[in-house]
Amino acid sequence: MRLSQCFNFHDFRELARRRLPGPIFNYIDGAAEDETTYRRNTAAFEDCDLVPNVLRGVATVDTSVTVMGERLAVPFYCSPTALQRLFHHQGERAVAAAVEKFGTMFGVSSVGTVGLEELAKNFTFPQVYQFYFHKDRGLNKAMMDRAKAAGVKIMMLTVDSITGGNRERDLRTGFAIPLKLNLRGITEFAIKPQWAINYFTHEKFRLPQLDEHIKMGPNAAISISDYFTNMLDPSMNWTDVEQMVKEWGRKFCLKGVMSVEDARKAVDIGCAGIVVSNHGGRQLDGSRASFDQLAEIIDAVGDKIDVLMDGGVHRATHVLKALSVGAKAVGVGRYYLFPLAAAGQAGVERALGFMRTELERGMRLMGCTSIGQLSRRNLKFRNSAR
Ligand SMILES: Cc1cc2nc3c(=O)[nH]c(=O)nc-3n(C[C@H](O)[C@H](O)[C@H](O)COP(=O)(O)O)c2cc1C
Repeated sequence: MRLSQCFNFHDFRELARRRLPGPIFNYIDGAAEDETTYRRNTAAFEDCDLVPNVLRGVATVDTSVTVMGERLAVPFYCSPTALQRLFHHQGERAVAAAVEKFGTMFGVSSVGTVGLEELAKNFTFPQVYQFYFHKDRGLNKAMMDRAKAAGVKIMMLTVDSITGGNRERDLRTGFAIPLKLNLRGITEFAIKPQWAINYFTHEKFRLPQLDEHIKMGPNAAISISDYFTNMLDPSMNWTDVEQMVKEWGRKFCLKGVMSVEDARKAVDIGCAGIVVSNHGGRQLDGSRASFDQLAEIIDAVGDKIDVLMDGGVHRATHVLKALSVGAKAVGVGRYYLFPLAAAGQAGVERALGFMRTELERGMRLMGCTSIGQLSRRNLKFRNSAR
């Protein structure tokens, strides 16, 4: 199977499965516990049907949106994800280059493997920095100052990871950073030597957002799971974040808001946006799917704050449904990670290209020439009072 034979999410996932050592594939593909939230994230879109209009003159369509003051050429963006150079040696560089071509935005993760300064220097798309809140307030301040100096426009604080999710696939394979594989895990690396050649013949794996501040990564004293357990602050509350919003002084966004109550609080503390997200089902299994929860949140705060969503998005029709409910933009995670793992920048570009083409086609078939024309009148929910 080759990249040219990939036409959708499932094809990219299959190519990534063939190319990656099992523990790495399962780290990307897996989610928490019984993975019910993970499955529902995508299935939720199937409980909602698009109702198109016809004969509307759709020769040209405008797919652009404005999110937290930034104009994006397409209404989808790449959600922040950790450890990308472990999936493909180009890592964030490949994703950033593809994102730049498509005129959208990309959130570089605190646990990213390319420095935010390097990305800010080489690319012009709106920089989003995904942040975790540490016990050490001095460290939080130092990291924020660094992001400011690099020109980051939007701070995205992830609030659904106050403790690590229970990802049983990783327990089974022994996936951890530094890698501590069990016998089965080692065997799975041994049968994918191409991955190992790529990994070991390129620049050494680093976590540049953190390693200036914390000794971490391969051969280091602290592992990623220690980082989540010991360095992040489970006592983080609304007062802490309100303070952070003030200190940051630019656009601030909370990622992982699921309740209406929290969405209202985000408005109260001065956030410019929220991402309705359950971390791709990787944290609290059994939590509601992002798309199922979206309408309620838009109804409560959609006129006061930009509401984004991510989770389970594999098709532009999913994007169209979320935008019709009222989301301002939609994030994708595994949708670009599998193509990254399968083929680096060429893979990410191919996947984003399909998404854009599908979106333009979908808008035409829906009878819409601009995103603003999408509304709930375009939708019918099955078996529900909405
Ligand atoms: C492998 C992987 C790593 C992730 N790392 C992070 C991270 O470092 N920070 C974060 O806020 N979210 C992280 N996420 C969650 C994504 O930002 C996003 O919420 C999720 O992937 C959306 O679901 P989807 O993969 O079904 O599109 C990660 C997701 C995956 C799959």
